[in-house]
Amino acid sequence: MNRRTLAGGALALTAALTLAGCSDSSGSDAGQASGKPELKVAGAFMPEPVMDTMASGFFTVTNKGGADKLTSVTSSVAEKVTLHSTKGNAMKEQKSFDVPANGELDFARGGNHLMFEELKKKPKQGDKVAVTLHFEKSDPIEIEVPVKAATYNPTPGKHASH
Ligand code: CU
Repeated sequence: MNRRTLAGGALALTAALTLAGCSDSSGSDAGQASGKPELKVAGAFMPEPVMDTMASGFFTVTNKGGADKLTSVTSSVAEKVTLHSTKGNAMKEQKSFDVPANGELDFARGGNHLMFEELKKKPKQGDKVAVTLHFEKSDPIEIEVPVKAATYNPTPGKHASH
């Protein structure tokens, strides 16, 4: 008689299937009453700088959605770009600028402006300068800023009601 002994270790398979991380928190977007910002940038220009080290820049951001904030600006031609407002004759560096809901943020001569500092090369009239605008909520917006004559000032009528 042949007797077979099954001498085996019992494999205790603990099939612990942990389903983690797939929580479906339904309805989590219910709280966005203010809506997403819808930004567009127009009218950008840089007057040809007089100095080798510094240039300024202007543009308008229009918003068809909820409020946002311009938090920083970067450019390939400058080590740093700062945000300035002008009050009277004095300009002041700002950390950010509000882009109001369904409104616009205007950078224009005599008012808000960008300062391109520590220029890597001096932009000349006819050049295009790559600039990226960074926002608190919206994705960054890349623009090509045309370099205009040093005295260029577009459509003075447009913002005449200031
Ligand atoms: Cu300034």
